[in-house]
Parts: sequence; C-alpha cells; structure tokens
Amino acid sequence: MTVTATSERALDQLVDQRRVVICCGSGGVGKTTTAAVVALEGARRGRNAVVVTIDPAKRLANALGLDHLSDTATEIDRSRWDPNGDAPPSGRLSALMLDTKSTFDRLITRNAGSDDQAQGILENRFYRNVSGALGGTQEYMAMEKLHELHEEGGFDLIVVDTPPTRHALDFLDAPKRLIRLLDNRIFRLLMMPTRAYLRVASVAVQAFLRTVSRVIGTEVVEDVVAFFRAFEGMEQGFRDRARAVEALISDPSTAFVLVTSPRRDAVDEARYFAQSLTAHHQTVEALIVNRVHPAFGDEAPEGLRARAEGLRSDTRDPEAAARLAALYENLADFRDIAIGERTHLESLRDRIGSATVAYVPFLAHDVYDFDALGEVANLLFVASDNAG
Ligand SMILES: Nc1ncnc2c1ncn2[C@@H]1O[C@H](COP(=O)(O)OP(=O)(O)OP(=O)(O)O)[C@@H](O)[C@H]1O
Ligand SMILES: [Mg+2]
Repeated sequence: MTVTATSERALDQLVDQRRVVICCGSGGVGKTTTAAVVALEGARRGRNAVVVTIDPAKRLANALGLDHLSDTATEIDRSRWDPNGDAPPSGRLSALMLDTKSTFDRLITRNAGSDDQAQGILENRFYRNVSGALGGTQEYMAMEKLHELHEEGGFDLIVVDTPPTRHALDFLDAPKRLIRLLDNRIFRLLMMPTRAYLRVASVAVQAFLRTVSRVIGTEVVEDVVAFFRAFEGMEQGFRDRARAVEALISDPSTAFVLVTSPRRDAVDEARYFAQSLTAHHQTVEALIVNRVHPAFGDEAPEGLRARAEGLRSDTRDPEAAARLAALYENLADFRDIAIGERTHLESLRDRIGSATVAYVPFLAHDVYDFDALGEVANLLFVASDNAG
C-alpha cells in the first residue's frame, strides 16, 4: 500500500469538504494526535475547525490551550497555530476537552423543565456517583457534544476523537442504547410520577426492587428511583437527540478515519474496527497508519545478516569489521520490522475497501505542540509518497 496522488487528494478532500470527521481506532495508536492534526489542517485551509479531544496528554492539552478543565470550545490564538500567517483569514481553530461529568451536568441544566428539576437531578446521590463513571456514559457524552457543536457551534469542521474503548465503536451504539433504556419497562415504571407509579408498579417490580435493596442497600435504590423520577418530561428530548445523533453519524457529510499502528496487535484490532463499522453501515474513508518504521532500502535481512557474518571472520581490521557487522545486523533488524509491518498491513486491505491509506512515520519525539502537529499535517496532506 503506497500513498498515491489520488489518495492524497482524497485525504485533502476529506478535510476540505466534510463537516464531521470521527477518528477511531484501538488504544494508544494516535487517535487524539490525528484528530488534532486534521482540525489543524482544516483551519490552515480556511475552515472554522474544532477538535473534541478525550483525555489528551497533558502537554498536548497545554498546546491546545486546554490546561483548565474546559468542555466548551475555546478558540486557539491564530499566532499559535499559524505563526507565519499562511492560512486564509477564514481559518479558525478551536479545541475542547470532553469532560463527561460537566457535559452531563450541562445537558441536565439545559433540558430540565425548571431550575428545581435540574437541581433535583444534579444533587441526587446516585447521579453524582455515576454521571462520570457509568459504562458507556463517555461514549454517549461524546455524541451529545458532537450534536451540540453541530447544532449551535457555528463550526464547519468538527473533528471528534474517540475514547480508548474496550468495546470497539461503543459510541456508535450509544444513542441506540439510550433509546432502548428509555423504552425499557422497568425504566418506564421508575420514571412515573410517584402516585401513578404506586398504582401501576406491579408486585413483580416491587419484589424486584426489594431484592435489589437487599443487595445494594435501600438508600441506593431510593436514590436510583428518585433519579429516574426526576427525569420526568426530559425523556423525549433525550430520545430526539439520540435519533438526531444517529442521523448525523450516518450523514454523507460525516467521515470515519480509522487510525492504526502497523504492529500486529493494532492491525488485528483495526480489522475488527473496520468490520464493526461495516456492520453499522459506515465506511472507513481513510486509514491512517501511524508510527511506521522506515523501509531502509529493499535488501533482504538474510543477505544483510550474511554480510555481518562474513565481516565477523574478517581478520584485516577486526575492530572496524565488528563495528560494521553490528551496523549490518542493526539494519537487518530494521528491515525485519519494516517487512513485518507491511505484511500485517496487507491483512487489512480487504477490510477497508477503497479507503485512502496514508502513513505517518515513527517520529523521534512525541507529538504535543503545534510544530509537531504541523509536521504530521505536512506528511499527511502535502508530502508525496511517504510510505517508504
Ligand atoms: N507518529 C508518531 N511518532 C511518535 N510519537 C507519536 C506519533 N503519533 C503519536 N505519538 C505519540 O504517541 C502517544 C499516543 O498518541 P495519542 O494520545 O494520540 O494516542 P491515542 O490513540 O489517542 O491513545 P488513547 O487510546 O490512550 O487515547 C502520544 O504521546 C503521542 O505524542
Ligand atoms: Mg486519545
């Protein structure tokens, strides 16, 4: 797989034309880095771009101006990301850090029927304990944030980073799961106002709650019941937004970028991601292979090792020969890695259809400031064949 002129243009088009770009992939492959790079490139090309980051490394957060917990989009001063003034005036870059708890809080405040209702939920013990930690909440809040930015942010490019989730693509299922929860019978009973609830709640539900109380404590159950009741009237809003998010994800203006490293375990996971996306009727539009080792020529490692072997028995200048032999062995090791990486990547080819493939080399340093982000952007969007 090499980067061709066509695929380069395809990656450029993605950043020029799409409204939402979702960067997904397994843990540690470079999703957060890629999301920041894509947003930066969008801004450099004149778009009003925002990147939604999740748990960025501290130094990257600092570079993006996210040193305080901020889940509202903050514009980054142009002089920081465009020091030479090359970008068109329309280009703007903002960033935010997804904070599950405060996104959830704001969602409640904005959608509650009254201040009292909002207060009731925000002060509820169950809510306070679970709102940041509930399984799938982070995925769901990422989607809520996407919806909010899409509806009211005024951005024309929203780049979304995704959490390093154990279950691939949990965020795609998050809206559906919420709708399923809202439709659940026990949930519906719990949501009913107290008196109606007492009338309708079947003996079975009461018995169920009693059993649960014995296991997790009456207080907790009361908190949970109070929590769901407090949601009365807000349910439809959640349902509507969940549907809107689903529609947005499937919209042709949304693109999925799959990020992977060329290591075997990462490529295996990338295959699984690609497969899950297909199962969700989504297409991988670009595959970014991050941290690729250089090819260093095309000589076979065996040949290089044979040369090293020959040098070791060279008696003319044993010391120099040994040093050279070590270099050949080193080169052979690099060739092994490069060949291995390319072999692993081959196994992805049949899973990604006609997706654009682009490569980012293993850099000697972490990517945490605008110089480094710009360097990666140049490799992805400007440089010709960098696959080596
Ligand atoms: N091409 C590269 N060369 C060298 N270092 C890189 C490269 N790309 C990313 N990194 C570094 O690797 C680390 C992990 O990258 P990043 O945080 O983007 O991964 P992630 O997929 O978001 O991880 P997580 O799944 O934990 O959220 C960071 O320190 C980043 O600076
Ligand atoms: Mg990350």
